[in-house]
This record gives sequence, C-alpha cells and structure tokens, in this order.
Amino acid sequence: MIGDASPPLSAYWMPFTANRQFKSAPRLLAKAEGMFYKDVEGRDILDATSGLWCVNAGHCRKEIAEAISRQATELDYAPSFQMSHPGAFRFAQELTRYAPEGLNRVFFANSGSEAVDSALKIVLAYHRARGEGQRTRFIGEERAYHGVGFGGISVGGIGGNRRQFGAWLPADHLPTTINYEHNAFSRGEPGWGAHLAQNLEGILALHHPSTIAAVIVEPVNGSAGVIVHPKGYLKKLREICDRHGILLIFDEVITGFGRLGTPFAGHFFGVKPDLMTCAKAITNAAVPMGAVFATGAVYEAITQGPEHLIEFSHGYTFSGHPLACAAGRAALEIYARESLFSRAAEIGVYFEDAAHGLRDLSIVRDIRNLGLMAGIELHSAPDGAGRHGYEALVGAFERGVLIRVTGDTIALSPPLIVEKNHIDQMFDVVGQVLRGLK
Ligand SMILES: Cc1ncc(COP(=O)(O)O)c(C=O)c1O
Repeated sequence: MIGDASPPLSAYWMPFTANRQFKSAPRLLAKAEGMFYKDVEGRDILDATSGLWCVNAGHCRKEIAEAISRQATELDYAPSFQMSHPGAFRFAQELTRYAPEGLNRVFFANSGSEAVDSALKIVLAYHRARGEGQRTRFIGEERAYHGVGFGGISVGGIGGNRRQFGAWLPADHLPTTINYEHNAFSRGEPGWGAHLAQNLEGILALHHPSTIAAVIVEPVNGSAGVIVHPKGYLKKLREICDRHGILLIFDEVITGFGRLGTPFAGHFFGVKPDLMTCAKAITNAAVPMGAVFATGAVYEAITQGPEHLIEFSHGYTFSGHPLACAAGRAALEIYARESLFSRAAEIGVYFEDAAHGLRDLSIVRDIRNLGLMAGIELHSAPDGAGRHGYEALVGAFERGVLIRVTGDTIALSPPLIVEKNHIDQMFDVVGQVLRGLK
C-alpha cells in the first residue's frame, strides 16, 4: 500500500460514476509519472487514456510543477474583472501562435464545459451586435459531447446526458456520421459519407437559415467512442455555414494540443472555424482551465460601444487564473521542445496497426482511429448494453492498464509521449480481456 489507501468513501459524490458500485470496489490512484499511474496498492497502471484525454505530455512533468509552485508563491490570484496579471496576456499570446490562422483572440474559462457555454454566448452576442438578434438557434450533432453546462447539453447529442435534465437552448442536431455498412473498420478518415453534410441544408430549410446562430461539432467525436467524420465532411459544413452567415464552432477540448498529429484538428482537416473551444491539455491537466479562441472579426463585432463600458458581460472569477496560466505556459514549452504536436502523426501508424490487430475477435463490432485516438466498439451482451464495456474496464485495470469505456466502446488515447512498447502492452491487455468476455 502507498499513501492513503482507505479514505472514508461516503461524503464524496462522484461525477459520472456508478457511485454505489464504485464504493463497493474502489479504484484509487495514488501517484503518477510519465506514462504510468500507481494505484494505492502500489501497482503500476499504464495510462492508455491520458487521464481523461488530457495529460498529453505525460504525468507529473517537473517543469510544470515548478512553474505552478513558483507562481503560487509569487502571485496566487489576481481578480479577473477590470484587472489582470501579465501571465494571462502572455499565455493568450503564446497560444495564438499554435492556433489555426486568424483565431487570435482568447477568452479564458476553467473547463471544457465553461468554454463551450462561453462560445455559445459569444455567438449570440456577436449576432446581436450586428443587428441579427433573430439568430438564436444552434445546430449540434447526434453523439457529440460538449460538456455538462445547460448550453453544452442542449447542443450535445448524447441522450443519456439530457434524460435527467432536458435541454434548454433551441438546438437541432445533424445525424451522426457513423455508418457500419460503409465504414466499419476504416483506418483514419472513412472515405464514404461526405455528402451527409447536406443534412445541414435540410435543417436550415426547416427553420430558415437567417434564424441559425452557429453550428457546433467535435472534429472527432471523442466521448461517444471515437467517431471519425468522413473525409471532406467538415469542409462541406464550413462551406454551408459560409453561404448562410452562420458561425462554425469546433469543440477541440479533446482534439486540441496534438491529439491528431497537428496542433489542432482545424490544421488536420484544413478547416478554419470561427470559434474553437479547448481545455484539458491546455495545461497538461495540471490545473483546470478552458479557453475559447475567436477570430478578430468576432471579437471586434462585440467590442463596440462606449469605451468605459464592459463589452461582453460574461466571465469567471478564475478566468486566466495565474496558476493555470503558469502551468499552461510551461506545458506549451514542453509541447514545443519535444515536438509533441506532430508526435501522433509519427507513432499513429504503429498505434493504428495495433488497434486494427483486434479486428478478428468475434466480440469486436468496429474499430475506428485517428492520430492517437482509437475506439474499439464491442457487440453488446445479450443481457444488457454496457456490461461488456464495464467488464473490459475492470479487467484491464486488474491487468495494469487504464482504459476508458463509453457503453460498449473502449476508447484509447495515450499521452503523446507513448512508445511502441506501451502500445504493445495496452493492446495485448485489451486483447486478453476481450478474449475473456462472454
Ligand atoms: C469535446 C468536449 N467538449 C467539452 C468537454 C467538457 O469538458 P469538461 O469536462 O472540462 O467540462 C469535453 C470533456 O470531455 C469534451 O470532450
């Protein structure tokens, strides 16, 4: 045993967790370094998921820890309204160096959910500022995850996340682009289905394009199980939005910071959104932070009126928090020094081969991948969807590998520092576990 191996379990109400089941057999992590966690029993656990898609440079990076520590003793906090600190401006400026061209304004939040809700509000404010206040409806996509704010669950397309709460913003949804008949076991971007972007025209016709504020998509649906859009699909969405004066938001909370082998997915797909949300790896997950990137045109449309008045009535106590900015700046330095934004393109080929090496297992329904993201979808057990996924999670953890599951889909997204031997280990273990499922 290492550390505090048996804390009292009742008070902490865990998020997105089967609380009672977890507390009857907790999985507790005590330490981390590089590619590995250690659980409270002292076992090494290979991190095949970058925590929750967020520790892109690997765990407990010394430079980030030191930057946080320095900042905490120098300036722990500075008010973020009508006041700031130099680190926030520096970090915003540095971030724009890596963003798709033109996305050169950065609004800070504290999570992906806050970034998404901030982006939706920026969109509404933008249209109102330009005299198009009738543009109030958003278009999302089935199976997209945009966090848990009321905005995010409204534009998001995961039914289970809305069932207990409803959905409150006016939003329609594009159909999911997943297609087993044409695209099962595609390597990288599926070749079939770019025409599905035309579904957007149908939704626009229903409401009239002049009422639509923005289209929001994840460039790759991560949380729903790595759904890679067909080649050319995102470009077509961009063209349709442009034709109708509709803003396009890329939610890059997962795909940002090198996951696809480019700094952001916008680079990978050759598509420039008007707004881009990110979080997670922005600080290598060492301090919570989220951000919205916007074009100068969006910023300038809103930043109007008498100069002494606040132009955008939105923000958070912790927007641009000094510790988050310090962690983020140190993370950016590591990403640049170790060329981690292109690493997924290099090792991604080996990762793809390893993932598709599981295709002949009878329990596997589909395998999808791009960059350092892979989804392995299983056939559901006859006695209930989700059982196979849960058993795979527990089985892999017992064998020393942390995987992520959504329903019956396993998602793997290791830190970008992953080496071939780690890839071998994670797919060996997943293979062993899948062979044992009934
Ligand atoms: C695409 C996307 N958007 C938003 C979020 C929400 O981020 P957070 O959990 O930091 O609020 C997530 C989280 O996984 C995500 O994957």
